Amino acid sequence: MGFLSAAILSAAALASLAAAASIPHSNVKRQVSQLRSKYDFVIVGAGTSGLTVADRLSAAFPNKTVLVIEYGDIHFAPGVFDPPTNWMEAIPNPVPSWSFFSLPNPDMGNQTAFVMAGQVVGGSSASNGQFFDRGSRFDYDAWLDVGGLEFAGKSIKWNWNGIFPYFKKSVTFTEPPPAVAQQYNYTWDVSAYGGTTPIYSTFAAFQWADQPVLKKAWKEMGINSQGECAGGDKEGICWVPASQDPLTGRRSHAGLGHHADVVPRSNYDLLVKHQVVRVAYPKGPKYGPPLVEVRSLVDNHLFNVTVKGEVVISAGAFHTPTVLQRSGIGPASFLASAGIPLVLDLPGVGSNLQDHGGPSVTWNYSQPYSFYPLPADLANNATFKSEAIAAFDDTPSHGPYTIAMGNSAIYVSLPHMTPNSQAIINRIRQIATTPGAAASYLPPDIRSSPVMVAGYIAQLLTLANAFSNPAFPSLETPWATSVAPASAVSFLLHPLSRGTVRLNLTDHVAQPVLDYRAGSNPVDIDIQLAQVRFLRRLLATPTMQGYGASEIAPGADVAADDALLAEYVRRQSILSFQHPCCTAAMLPKGRGGVVGVDLKVHGAAGLRVADLSIAPLLVGSHTSSTAYAIGEKVSF
Ligand SMILES: Cc1cc2nc3c(=O)[nH]c(=O)nc-3n(C[C@H](O)[C@H](O)[C@H](O)COP(=O)(O)OP(=O)(O)OC[C@H]3O[C@@H](n4cnc5c(N)ncnc54)[C@H](O)[C@@H]3O)c2cc1C
Ligand SMILES: *[C@@H]1O[C@H](CO)[C@@H](O)[C@H](O)[C@H]1NC(C)=O
Ligand SMILES: *[C@@H]1O[C@H](CO)[C@@H](O)[C@H](O)[C@H]1NC(C)=O
Ligand SMILES: *[C@@H]1O[C@H](CO)[C@@H](O)[C@H](O)[C@H]1NC(C)=O
Ligand SMILES: *[C@@H]1O[C@H](CO)[C@@H](O)[C@H](O)[C@H]1NC(C)=O
Ligand SMILES: *[C@@H]1O[C@H](CO)[C@@H](O)[C@H](O)[C@H]1NC(C)=O
Ligand SMILES: *[C@@H]1O[C@H](CO)[C@@H](O)[C@H](O)[C@H]1NC(C)=O
Ligand SMILES: *[C@@H]1O[C@H](CO)[C@@H](O)[C@H](O)[C@H]1NC(C)=O
Repeated sequence: MGFLSAAILSAAALASLAAAASIPHSNVKRQVSQLRSKYDFVIVGAGTSGLTVADRLSAAFPNKTVLVIEYGDIHFAPGVFDPPTNWMEAIPNPVPSWSFFSLPNPDMGNQTAFVMAGQVVGGSSASNGQFFDRGSRFDYDAWLDVGGLEFAGKSIKWNWNGIFPYFKKSVTFTEPPPAVAQQYNYTWDVSAYGGTTPIYSTFAAFQWADQPVLKKAWKEMGINSQGECAGGDKEGICWVPASQDPLTGRRSHAGLGHHADVVPRSNYDLLVKHQVVRVAYPKGPKYGPPLVEVRSLVDNHLFNVTVKGEVVISAGAFHTPTVLQRSGIGPASFLASAGIPLVLDLPGVGSNLQDHGGPSVTWNYSQPYSFYPLPADLANNATFKSEAIAAFDDTPSHGPYTIAMGNSAIYVSLPHMTPNSQAIINRIRQIATTPGAAASYLPPDIRSSPVMVAGYIAQLLTLANAFSNPAFPSLETPWATSVAPASAVSFLLHPLSRGTVRLNLTDHVAQPVLDYRAGSNPVDIDIQLAQVRFLRRLLATPTMQGYGASEIAPGADVAADDALLAEYVRRQSILSFQHPCCTAAMLPKGRGGVVGVDLKVHGAAGLRVADLSIAPLLVGSHTSSTAYAIGEKVSF
């Protein structure tokens, strides 16, 4: 079982913690001399999952010491969506982030993926778009399914029923006031929530005036509204809450709700501006917990932290595999090429990289498209802008600065999108069952690993089954406004291509090398053809025709031709919507897994991973809610 099988915090205790909000935490450490000689638990990375785990452990075990080690620092400056900038413009003092360019993607016109990750206390929850949806029940049921008989027999289950209680627990949802709900037609169902954790979500008291336009057009395409999408069933048109404080409108993130807003605890320390280099097993991986080797980013001083209980790596999907690889835990052949002594041969470390990406359908209008207010009013109308800033500072906060990226999206399954869904599903099954076929799509350095091939075949078969389910979304298109040139972005929710995260061979503590390999499984392109063709139907709806919607891209000629449309998908896709995952997958060892259902690293004593790396398959949603839920579930 998890750490805390017995220790349960009462709702009353949590409520009193929430009431102590915003007392600055005293236990921030900046150098080794300030640390204790030993810790019971060390958590690597003060991110979305890591701080959730640290909060739960330090509260449940008052007599055990917890140390969190974070590369970044505390930075609670205004967020990307806060005034005084214009909507979705860069702010002058942004939260520090890792940023990467992947290697070129030969199957996507040699484009590179541009990806970021929060490098700060709070991790990516402190820098993300605040779009706070959850996957569908079938996403998590697939996590159990890919684990095969081995996982089916375990008492810990990460299927929907096994993770839903932790989604509920992870967030306090605040219902919008009746007048606001009525004005925007917000719908929700409180039974999808019920937590009292000081991570907040709500619906903003604002929408751009044309938000209902696309909603009407989607309905004309036959997409039905879902009243609540956080309860497991989300095929259709959804309202999506934002992760924000319902009173102040400000971003809610792990650095606040699981750190700054938590009452100071004498058993909890946070070391900032330090990089965890590796974990070390002086007597071999069976004799844990390991030591944690840490490097100061201020003076480069290198030291070991002694651990009595467990180490939890929560450094995010790009950095968790770097810590493991530097520790000698990873693909043996890669470690040999990097000159790192092998501790455990786990070829799944840094393999199985997945992310959301996709192209857009874009259009213009020939008829007047005049609504008030629209985003341009923030830029062009000084009165509107000053009113918007005042509204944001009001209590409760309202106005345009409260909507973050927006609150609406469609989620559509393959059978509802195309009459050709069966052909696509058959092609996936054929790849899975034809000897050598699945292996040929894996990254070259793990292609000959029988366990990686077995795991990939299991993933393909699980996804083929899921794709045939009309309630399993495979396309997402979020929107907030549709001002020309307008676009409908085609998220590929369940990519079949697999990439890698590997250490830089000449500098192991530098940024890792990301090889996205987007489009390397050609079925991803087939699915995108169906998605783009589906989204183009939007422009033919009476609502869009009423505004004289005219397509800019891909255009009827391109869309009519498979080869031309595939070229459009390859060249015009954005390769990352910032949801990397799955680089230390929870799968049986015989399926290329890195951790088991208890999130313990296979074969390593006293070592777990808890962050989005453990997802075996990317979920059909933005990923922060799942990162919180992973942190919650592993802690109990
Ligand atoms: C720009 C952007 C926009 C996004 N938009 C959304 C959105 O709108 N909605 C949504 O739900 N999701 C969104 N996401 C994704 C979501 O925020 C992440 O998937 C999620 O927060 C990841 O959580 P994590 O715990 O896995 O990792 P993180 O929260 O990224 O935490 C990892 C932490 O580990 C630290 N770290 C790394 N290496 C080391 C090391 N060696 N030593 C010490 N510390 C280390 C990092 O600095 C970081 O603080 C977005 C992400 C980004 C980057
Ligand atoms: C913590 O330690 C104190 C003193 O050693 C002891 O009295 C107390 O019962 C312990 N509490 C828990 C929860 O173990
Ligand atoms: C991608 O780059 C490789 C190597 O430079 C080159 O051979 C190939 O033609 C390029 N492909 C495209 C589509 O530009
Ligand atoms: C809300 O719903 C009502 C009834 O369906 C509809 O008449 C109205 O236009 C909707 N308003 C918005 C802002 O969507
Ligand atoms: C940390 O401990 C490991 C294992 O004993 C050792 O190899 C390494 O040199 C130590 N690192 C430091 C900085 O002392
Ligand atoms: C969109 O339409 C407007 C007005 O008809 C026109 O000025 C503009 O050039 C068009 N933009 C594109 C990208 O076609
Ligand atoms: C500018 O904003 C103000 C305040 O919201 C509004 O009353 C006014 O009509 C706007 N002006 C224009 C030209 O839209
Ligand atoms: C690896 O690191 C070196 C030194 O920092 C750098 O010059 C090089 O570009 C990096 N390689 C890759 C592939 O990122």
